[in-house]
Amino acid sequence: MLLHLPLSPFRRAAAEAVAAALGVDAVGLAVSTPPDPALGDFAVGCFSASRTLRAAPAALASRVAATFSPGPLLESAAAAGPYVNFRARRAALYADLFARTLTPGGTLVPAAPGAGQTVCIDYSSPNIAKPLSYHHIRSTVIGHALANLHRALGFRVVGINHLGDWGTTFGMILAAFARWGVPEPLTIGGMAERYVAFRKAAETDTSCGDDGRAWFKRLEDGDETARALWRRMREISLTEFDEVYARLGVVFDEVRGESAYEADMPVVLADLERKGLTSISDGALVVDLADCNMPPCLLRKADGATLYATRDLAAAVYRQEQYGFTRSLYVTDSGQALHFAQLKVVLERAGHEWAKRITHVPFGLVRLGGKKTGARTGNVVLLLDVLGEAEAQIDATVARTNPDLTPERRREVARDVGVGAIIFANLQSQREKDVDFELEKVLSFDGDAGPYLQYAHARARSVLRRSGVTDVAALASSADAARLARDEEWQLALKLDAIGDEAARAAESCEPHIVAHYLLELCAAYSRWYALGSQDATLRVLCADDATRAARLALDAAFGATLAGGLAMLGMRAPEEM
Ligand code: ARG
Repeated sequence: MLLHLPLSPFRRAAAEAVAAALGVDAVGLAVSTPPDPALGDFAVGCFSASRTLRAAPAALASRVAATFSPGPLLESAAAAGPYVNFRARRAALYADLFARTLTPGGTLVPAAPGAGQTVCIDYSSPNIAKPLSYHHIRSTVIGHALANLHRALGFRVVGINHLGDWGTTFGMILAAFARWGVPEPLTIGGMAERYVAFRKAAETDTSCGDDGRAWFKRLEDGDETARALWRRMREISLTEFDEVYARLGVVFDEVRGESAYEADMPVVLADLERKGLTSISDGALVVDLADCNMPPCLLRKADGATLYATRDLAAAVYRQEQYGFTRSLYVTDSGQALHFAQLKVVLERAGHEWAKRITHVPFGLVRLGGKKTGARTGNVVLLLDVLGEAEAQIDATVARTNPDLTPERRREVARDVGVGAIIFANLQSQREKDVDFELEKVLSFDGDAGPYLQYAHARARSVLRRSGVTDVAALASSADAARLARDEEWQLALKLDAIGDEAARAAESCEPHIVAHYLLELCAAYSRWYALGSQDATLRVLCADDATRAARLALDAAFGATLAGGLAMLGMRAPEEM
């Protein structure tokens, strides 16, 4: 659905040159980087064209190279086995890069493939009256990155916090409050304690079950005492959650809990029944999914209570009606894979063609200090502790490396870098892999970690500050690309040019780690260039020759802007100094 041409005009030109020479569609032709920069700047394989045209890829590559004529963006093409390797016109690429990254109104991502499309992203979505657990934090970080990535590509994004605020659990907590009183001041901890005590009591006291159901019925029927207490629980929980969201810089477009679908559920159930999709099993209303090798989807229990799945069906319909999504994503731990598979099948059977646009975005576990992070331990406390520890350590490091920073500035930096480190650690590996979280690695300034990226940004910005240049837009228009003759400069420019395509791949596959990995490579390319200056003063960015200095400063500034933009896609700040 997201298939599109490469976003970089240079990469697009390479794909289009192959398409035009062979008479195939340019969409779907992958543009990669040749294994050796000496071969060229972009490589396009002729494999898919070879299937369509029934000809050997190498023969097709030769044909493309033989018929290629240079244009404003590409200067040459050469066949290498099944690949065509293209060279870009350097001056044109530098000019495009500087215009996009340094001038007001420039766009880091050179095209907007998501324009006119809407993506709903359900993320975080914790249950109220329960401490936020680590999987909600990971969902928050991944979902936030996916929201930013889609926004950068021009999508309209609806970030949704689908709070778990409805169900029989709340009947039980209310019943517990009635028995033992409301623990004041009421906190999530107090609610969770009452709930646990109630479950415990229910093991021996059979009246608990009826009591809980009766209280849930009162809640459903709009009994004012029940509703007021439930509202309080919801508000108090949200206030606690908001503390974490604020720390992570997360803002939702829609905070709409399961309770909001109360009135929609009977409509959804009636629809499924009318379409003959439901059956009764042990008194419960279900959709049998045996023919898909799945257990039945439970919609209404024998006692009349609706379930998580019932509310998700109603919510899916609501989102489609309200937003007309092109994609609807759900970011939860992989443990919920079956639930979303069932949801999709039931919606498909109900005749909703849009059900195929629903995607579950699962992720693996995080182990903190060797301990598995479970749902039951108060992991928010853990997160806030880890954040506090991260900030303290960064603060100490920065006090050493940058003693001129005022303590206030240093604390700000420590906050941005501490939280950035935690975000990056959650995004760095493929989603579905389990993550081992070791604070020492996560906080590294020179390893594959968040602080390393942020430090590279601060360094690039400090070069610019020391140069005294304040008008980067002027740099963009005056920079003479001929002064950027080093291979290291060109490799950096090519990497910078790729950000849009990396972001598109990351959004398409819902894998923010693609951008995380890209940013590490980008910083490595910057370091290779920057390091030249330590051997030879004429190779420094701030060298003696005015025209060369201006061109190098433009590249430095383009790097800073691109890195800051890439960090923002991941939900991280880009400090000016560190
Ligand atoms: N509240 C659920 C939990 O804590 C996650 C909800 C995910 N979103 C959804 N629409 N089901 O596990």
